[in-house]
Amino acid sequence: MAESLEGWKRSHNCGELNSSNVDKDVLLMGWVQRRRDHGGLIFIDLRDREGLTQVVFNPESGAASHAKAHSLRSEFVVAIKGKVSRRPEGTVNPNLKTGEIEVVADSLKVLNESKTPPFAIEDDLDSAETLRLRYRYLDLRRPIIQSKIILRHKVVQKLRGFLSGAGFLEIETPMLTKSTPEGARDFLVPSRMSPGMFYALPQSPQLFKQILMVSGFDKYYQVVRCFRDEDLRADRQPEFTQIDIEMSFIEMEDIMGLMEEMIGEVFHEARGVRPDTPFSRLTYKEAVDRFGLDAPDTRFGMELKDISDMVKNSSFKVFADPLSKGGVVKVINVRGGGSISRAEIDLLTEFARSHGAKGLAWVKVTAEGWQSPIAKFLTEDEIKGVNERSGAEIGDLLLFAADSCKVANTLLGRLRVHLGHKLGLIDKGIFNFLWVTDFPLLEFDEAEKRYVAVHHPFTAPMDEDMPHIMEHPEKARAKAYDLVLNGTEIGGGSIRINRQDVQSLIFTMLGISEEEGRAKFGFLLEALEFGAPPHGGIAFGLDRLIAILTASDSIRDVIAFPKTQKGTCLMTDAPSKVGKRQLDELSIKVNIVE
Ligand code: AMO
Ligand code: AMP
Repeated sequence: MAESLEGWKRSHNCGELNSSNVDKDVLLMGWVQRRRDHGGLIFIDLRDREGLTQVVFNPESGAASHAKAHSLRSEFVVAIKGKVSRRPEGTVNPNLKTGEIEVVADSLKVLNESKTPPFAIEDDLDSAETLRLRYRYLDLRRPIIQSKIILRHKVVQKLRGFLSGAGFLEIETPMLTKSTPEGARDFLVPSRMSPGMFYALPQSPQLFKQILMVSGFDKYYQVVRCFRDEDLRADRQPEFTQIDIEMSFIEMEDIMGLMEEMIGEVFHEARGVRPDTPFSRLTYKEAVDRFGLDAPDTRFGMELKDISDMVKNSSFKVFADPLSKGGVVKVINVRGGGSISRAEIDLLTEFARSHGAKGLAWVKVTAEGWQSPIAKFLTEDEIKGVNERSGAEIGDLLLFAADSCKVANTLLGRLRVHLGHKLGLIDKGIFNFLWVTDFPLLEFDEAEKRYVAVHHPFTAPMDEDMPHIMEHPEKARAKAYDLVLNGTEIGGGSIRINRQDVQSLIFTMLGISEEEGRAKFGFLLEALEFGAPPHGGIAFGLDRLIAILTASDSIRDVIAFPKTQKGTCLMTDAPSKVGKRQLDELSIKVNIVE
């Protein structure tokens, strides 16, 4: 039977007591981690957010509580009064903050009982994630998850302190709003009062923060939930948190410098050291040329080498054909990869096919020359040239992609990261911050047969590219910058267009008609006509940042109540059906045959 507190008050938490407290009377509360019976003595490890304390029940110090302690089970909630005692010689636990002491209990209250949990509340756990998410409240009791959520709190406090100190104001923007394009689908919310009309949940506060600059708030930030209906991965959730920032009267260097300072603070909070500044930089072109991706992991080599010039006249059609269509042939050298088995190479080829490539040519470099299905197609000169450019040595494995630039770069870029992890080439102790700059402003979308914005349609072109933007849209670069940490894009931003005529021009180039532009973004275009200052900003993905700082495999580990890859919450069972009455009120008919 559960007992009430009846005036009992905690004196300490479970991670606090040490030998300086010996002989002190204390009152602790928490959960029973485990109970051990040793002859006449009963030990329990009492757990709360701050740690574990060993409690001993013996018949001499409290006969009634000793008898009661027999009934304790894991996860019972208890309160204990007792005296701090130095642990006997040989039983000190150096791995525990409280390992020098134990509390000898004289009274015990059972505040609540617990069913046997479906998994142990321990850091090392091999339970399926689905079970953990179904009982997320128990999963969240595990110290490893608690420490991540606590670190998240500390980081947010640091960010708020830094930004507030630098003159930024935290201002809330609406959650029920109009769609702002950030490249994903919107989550829609039906309006009861305007039947047939919908709000969109914000993909980001982009337009509101720009409007706040027009309003003269000068420096804005917000720790804000964003919603994107896109395919989910380990680093993507349908709702996630941004540290969203905007400032006026600045250029790219101003905000990049300030953000380096801010990230330095956060990093110091989380890891105890400050990263070197200024952060490294790569242009978009260089990132893609050398690493295949615009968010490169620069913690290891295996860079992509372009061998197009060497094989453009080759009789090997697999190489020559894509080149004749404006593509490329690129290679990565997997150092010592010669020992990789044929079966594993077949898996890599499958990986290539799943990325839209037609195959994956490979070469094992041996003392006798190339061992490869493609060796017979290349001349000696071509082989020599490829060996030189790729730095091939005996024992290496060369992997080739011959395709359009996009497919070849993406494929080898991803293969590189995959192999980097698989072959243990990445030093997990390194944190490489990298700015990627000089993004193209627009890119041609083959499916839609029109230009789309690479960042978003409100990003300003580089001044020097402005005069030629109409003739060469694909050559215009954006005043945009992404911050990449160990191959993950943790933030992205840009200087914005603050002139109405330029914004209208960009809309036109994106194939947005004047009418559509007015309907979707009329308020922005109008605001730009009333003295919009030069402004720019950035948004960081808080979940991603914390996941990297805590070495988590997935951002789900650093979100208290995350969704699955399918966008469901296994604890509450959302999304779920709603009753007919609720639908009727919203004038909604569900078009599903059951
Ligand atoms: P962007 O779309 O690049 O920029 O988003 C900023 C950062 O948010 C994180 N992020 C996500 N994290 C988890 N789950 C997701 N589904 C998800 N999508 C994005 C990434 C990303 O770098 N309004 C602009 C910012 C600006 O221009 O100021 C924007 O939203 O870490
Ligand atoms: P094939 O002549 O099609 O059998 O291809 C010979 C080798 O080239 C095989 O190892 C294929 O996997 C590889 N290959 C085919 N297409 C490509 C491509 N686009 N890029 C790189 N390698 C390819």
